[in-house]
Amino acid sequence: MSPLLQIKPEDLFVDYSLDSAALGARPMVKRHLADLRGSFSDGSAYEAALAQGNPLIYEVTAVEPANGDGQLHYGLGIIQPGRIGDEYHLTKGHYHSHRAAAEIYIGLRGEGAMVLEDETTGETRLVPLVANSVVYVPGHTAHRTVNTGAEPLVYLGVYPSNAGHDYGAIAEKNFRNVVIATASGPALVERSAHLAGRPTR
Ligand code: PA5
Ligand code: MN
Repeated sequence: MSPLLQIKPEDLFVDYSLDSAALGARPMVKRHLADLRGSFSDGSAYEAALAQGNPLIYEVTAVEPANGDGQLHYGLGIIQPGRIGDEYHLTKGHYHSHRAAAEIYIGLRGEGAMVLEDETTGETRLVPLVANSVVYVPGHTAHRTVNTGAEPLVYLGVYPSNAGHDYGAIAEKNFRNVVIATASGPALVERSAHLAGRPTR
């Protein structure tokens, strides 16, 4: 069968909503605060927030038209605005299982940023992710998205079909840096320095 005919008609054209971030009628994976244990740096702020409820933090929907050499998958993400302590709402973050796989993120709505961390050196960049912009995520780079604005952040991620999502390394040692709100806007701080000097409760 020709490559074109192998794609289901519903995967050739998919509409999306900037309000709900739904991709066609596909199921959205929902991540609530309780699913993000260990992701935030400030454990006390996390437990305090969780004691108040278990809000929806982000949702993602993937479209996987075909697998194999040269094929692409994509996902639409929506992160609700908000903070846990001074840390912005964030995604779990991951490497690609196939480490060499790169990805592009296209900002569609809202204001946010991506934390990009090189696997070998830990070198980190905080890159804005906003409407009308594209972020390039190289291979071998852990990536996490944060919503730094007051409205939902909506974006599209496009990646090779063989990329895969590896959450294990992040679950084990997290990102080296944290994105926090400061008087002068979002800032990247070393995780080890984030709570240093703060009295323990
Ligand atoms: O494939 C991607 O990089 C995105 O679609 C993410 O999956 C999305 O941002 C959700 O983040 P995470 O997979 O880290 O939970
Ligand atoms: Mn990815």
